Amino acid sequence: MNNNREIYLDIKGDFPVFERELDLVYLDHAATSQKPEMVVDVLKEQMLFENGSPHRGAHRMSVLATEIYNKGRNAVREFIHARRSEEIIFTKNATESLNLIAYSYGLHSIGKEDEILVAISAHHSNFVPWQMVAEKTGASLKYLMVDEFGDIPDSEISKINEKTKLVAFSWISNGIGTKVDAQRIIEKAHEVGAVAVVDAAQIAGHEPIDVQAVDADFLVFSGHKMFAPQGIGVLYGKYDLLDKMPPFLTGGDMIEYVSCEGTTFAKVPERFEAGTQNVTGVRGLTAAIDYVLSIGLDRISVHESALTSYAVEQLKKLPFVTVYGAESVEKRGALVIFNIEGIHPHDVASILDEEGIAIRAGHHCTQPLMKHLGLGASCRASFSIYNGTEDIDTLVKGIKRVREVFGYDD
Ligand SMILES: Cc1ncc(COP(=O)(O)O)c(C=O)c1O
Repeated sequence: MNNNREIYLDIKGDFPVFERELDLVYLDHAATSQKPEMVVDVLKEQMLFENGSPHRGAHRMSVLATEIYNKGRNAVREFIHARRSEEIIFTKNATESLNLIAYSYGLHSIGKEDEILVAISAHHSNFVPWQMVAEKTGASLKYLMVDEFGDIPDSEISKINEKTKLVAFSWISNGIGTKVDAQRIIEKAHEVGAVAVVDAAQIAGHEPIDVQAVDADFLVFSGHKMFAPQGIGVLYGKYDLLDKMPPFLTGGDMIEYVSCEGTTFAKVPERFEAGTQNVTGVRGLTAAIDYVLSIGLDRISVHESALTSYAVEQLKKLPFVTVYGAESVEKRGALVIFNIEGIHPHDVASILDEEGIAIRAGHHCTQPLMKHLGLGASCRASFSIYNGTEDIDTLVKGIKRVREVFGYDD
C-alpha cells in the first residue's frame, strides 16, 4: 500500500510484466530494470519501420538510422550534461566502456612508475581491467578502502598522491549501496594530475548526473539498468582525453582511410565505434531517457529514497536481520544489502523466489568488497519507480517465511 501519495509514484501500470506476473515482487532493479511499454513500443516502431545501417548509405533507411543514432548521442549528452556530443561513445554496456578506457587510455598513458587507485567497493568491471593494466604496464595497483558503512573516508582519499595516474570508483556501490562523494575524490585526483573514472551504473536513471559539475574525466553506465534494452552502454570522456586515445576495436566505420600501406582512424567518437552500431539500442536508450525525464529525476529520487528508508527501517526491526551500508539515506542508493542470521543468502533468494520475490544473492560482482567487509555473500533488495511500500511489506513477510522454513520460530 502506498501510504504517502505525495512522496510515492504510482507507476507500476507502465510495466506490462506486472500485469502478467501478478505475484512478482521485483527487487532486482540494480541487476537490470524491467521495461516500460512506452520504450518497447518505440523499439518496435524502429525495428519495423526505421531500420537501416547507420553512416553507410545514401538511401532513406540508412539516413533515418543515422539520424536516430545521432539524436541518441545528443539525448545522452543532454542527460549527463556533457559539453559536446563527441564526448559520448556508445558501447555494449558499462563493462565494455570500462574496458575501452583501460585498453585505450590505461595501457597507453600509465607506466611502471605510476600508481592506479581503485576503490575496494568497485564492481569487478571497474576492478579487473585495472588489474590487467597494472600487470601489463608494471604500474602499482593500490586500493581505496571503504569504512564499515561503505564510504571512502578522507584518510583513504589522501592515498591519492603525485604517483597516482588514475582513480576508479563506483559513485553508488552495487555491493553495499553507499553513495560516495564523487566530487571530492575527483577534486583530489585532479590536484595531482590524475584522471578519475566514475562508474555511474547505479546512479544513472535514479538521480541527475552532471559530468561537468563533478568534473569527471570518464563516466560510464549501462542502458539496461535504466529501462533501455540490454546491449547498449555509454562511455563519457572529456574530449581532450578521447582525442588522444587510440582505437579499442578496429574495422569498419572507425576509419578515415584504409590502404595496403596502413590505416588512418576517424575522429572521436566514431574512432571508438567499430562495426555496425546498435541503432535499436540507441533508440531504446533515447526512449528510456525520455521516459525518465517525463517522470522527473527529482521525483524518482524522492520516491526511491523514501522507499529505501522504509526498507531499511522495516528490515532493521527484524532481530535476525543485519542491514549493511550507510546510516543516512542521503548516502544510500536505491538498494539494501542484508543477511539473515543462520541462513545462506542463496537459500534466502531461492525461498523468496517461491513466494514471487526476486532479490539478488551472492557477491554481487564485488568479491574484494565482500572480503573486506568480512562477508562471504549477502542478499540485495534493490528498488525502482515501479516498487511501492507494499513490495517491502511482502519482502518482510517473505523473510519471516524463510525463517520458518529453516525451523526458527521467532
Ligand atoms: C556498479 C556497477 N558497475 C558496473 C556494472 C556492470 O554492468 P554491465 O554488466 O551492464 O556491464 C554493474 C552491473 O551490475 C554495476 O552494478
